[in-house]
Amino acid sequence: MRTLLIAGNWKMNLLRSSAVELAQALANRFAQPPEGIELLVCPPFPYLIPVHEVIAGSAVQLGAQTSYFEPPGAFTGEVANEMLVDVGCRYVIQGHSERRHVLGESDTVVNRKVRASLQRGLRVILCVGERLEERQAGQTEQVLDRQLETGLREIDAAAAGNVVVAYEPVWAIGTGVVATEQQAQSAHAHIRNWLASRYNPEFARAARILYGGSVKPQNAEGLLAQPDVDGALVGGASLKADSFCGIVDAAVRARASAG
Ligand code: 13P
Repeated sequence: MRTLLIAGNWKMNLLRSSAVELAQALANRFAQPPEGIELLVCPPFPYLIPVHEVIAGSAVQLGAQTSYFEPPGAFTGEVANEMLVDVGCRYVIQGHSERRHVLGESDTVVNRKVRASLQRGLRVILCVGERLEERQAGQTEQVLDRQLETGLREIDAAAAGNVVVAYEPVWAIGTGVVATEQQAQSAHAHIRNWLASRYNPEFARAARILYGGSVKPQNAEGLLAQPDVDGALVGGASLKADSFCGIVDAAVRARASAG
């Protein structure tokens, strides 16, 4: 059975005191990982170090929300993968819809970022997902194929073993409109089939595919019980210890009933 990953993407939220307080609450609660579940928080850059200090030694791992593809150098305002590794990050998110659609990152830029992060030894959460108009036009699978095809270009199976794909339909992010369990399962199964043909069936069976978009404690168990949903990338509900823990509890239940 695949290890579930419950990841909090804090986005551009919290201040130092609230970030540390939240991280401390999670570290207290998860000194040990729940069985079969991996936990991750992705704070804004300035809080990576203070958050790492309080989660060190707990089951909560550290990730960043993006990074630049170049090694350290003259790139004002950017953050290098080397720096993320240096401050204790295990993971980095790439290709989040807000990076694609608000900050204008193309599939090609996302691919360069994914490759650079993998080369520096980080695990990558590669986000893909269609916009509402694309879903309504019946183009969901086409959009996912394009984002995967370019996002994973020139990444062989050994390197791609450190990639977790996150299916985040843009229309579900921050809207309170969660994908139905069937919509999520169908997109995830499509992604897994794509991975099987791009790499191989064994690779696809081991690959983890997260769902993101309005995940809450109340809807998490049903989503996580779907056979191809291997965790959650949580935005708003990851900003409060209670709701993030509620989602982890739902993951524990979903795993127990999957038996
Ligand atoms: P919300 O959980 O706030 O909808 O955000 C999802 C997301 O974008 C996680 O990366």
